[in-house]
Amino acid sequence: MDATIVPKVEKHYPVLLKEIISVISPQHGGTFIDCTFGQGGYSKKILEFENTNIIALDRDAESEKVANHFKESFVDRFIFRNIKFSQLNNLKLKNENIRGVIFDLGYSYTQIKDPQKGLSFEADGKLNMQLGLNSYSAEDAINKLDEKELEKIFKFFGDEKEGKYIARNIVKERLKKKIDTKTLVKIIDKSKKRINFKAHNATKVFQALRIFVNKEISELIFGLVNAAKVLKKGGVLGVVTFHSLEDKIVKYFFKSLSENKSISRYSPVTEQAETLFNLIQKKPITPSEEEIDENPPSRSAKFRYAIKKKDFYDFDTDIQDQFRNLIEIENYGDKL
Ligand SMILES: C[S@@+](CC[C@H](N)C(=O)[O-])C[C@H]1O[C@@H](n2cnc3c(N)ncnc32)[C@H](O)[C@@H]1O
Repeated sequence: MDATIVPKVEKHYPVLLKEIISVISPQHGGTFIDCTFGQGGYSKKILEFENTNIIALDRDAESEKVANHFKESFVDRFIFRNIKFSQLNNLKLKNENIRGVIFDLGYSYTQIKDPQKGLSFEADGKLNMQLGLNSYSAEDAINKLDEKELEKIFKFFGDEKEGKYIARNIVKERLKKKIDTKTLVKIIDKSKKRINFKAHNATKVFQALRIFVNKEISELIFGLVNAAKVLKKGGVLGVVTFHSLEDKIVKYFFKSLSENKSISRYSPVTEQAETLFNLIQKKPITPSEEEIDENPPSRSAKFRYAIKKKDFYDFDTDIQDQFRNLIEIENYGDKL
């Protein structure tokens, strides 16, 4: 979703479900890792096919309530872990036939409707934005980071052109009182000189803060690397993204590992031309007009996937170097 406005839709829609199912082909059976279980939209559909198993992950403990219903219906075929997907290498897999690893990034309808989570600039009260298993909140960031750090967060994670003035005014205002959601929205309104007719003034800053609080860049990078490790030969790695920064990372990861650079550091020199992935389609799959009509927040979704060509566990990727500047900005949170 590209905005932190509570969507007008009244229920949860699994985005691009039909397209994802057609790519991962659960009719052939196998184990699938649903890295972003949420309300279980993808897992439910996959489990409708015989001989499939699901390992579901979600950082939000609320998802476990939905998962408990799944456990009752699919006793031996479904497990849930309340962990971050960057940690999926800790799953202690016993040579499972992993045919697909799927990520549907961001947050769900249920989460943005939850005032405790404080994801929306329309909500009252405390700035939070923690999806689960976090170390600090948006309130900590806004009230404790220095001006330059805030400016960089707004610029790099929100593409906010007026981040400098917003950061300056935040630092001024917080001398008087702690900043909550309403105050932050007022500061943004006051700081912005350009009029935006398309989106709410606070959209970009709120997106930036959500990315920062949930370390979404490092999560995605380490999630992708670990997913590529656990997948079996012929398995599909698929990712649905909702903003350009995420899409850039996924696109780079697939491109770099499907062109002639990627190789296990243990394989002989003669195999240097091998690559880890087959990229069937360079362009992302996007929702149909019908889907966008039914579920408008899906309009910014992009689905990219690649097929693993080898059983390599260890392979070289420079993705961390490529996005090091963004990881360093997320690491400002380590001192909070
Ligand atoms: C868009 S929703 C997924 C919806 C799901 N596909 C469905 O059909 O119900 C994204 C989910 O991913 C979870 N999530 C986001 N980042 C995560 C991370 N790093 N590790 C684990 N779960 C994460 C969120 O808590 C949220 O429940």
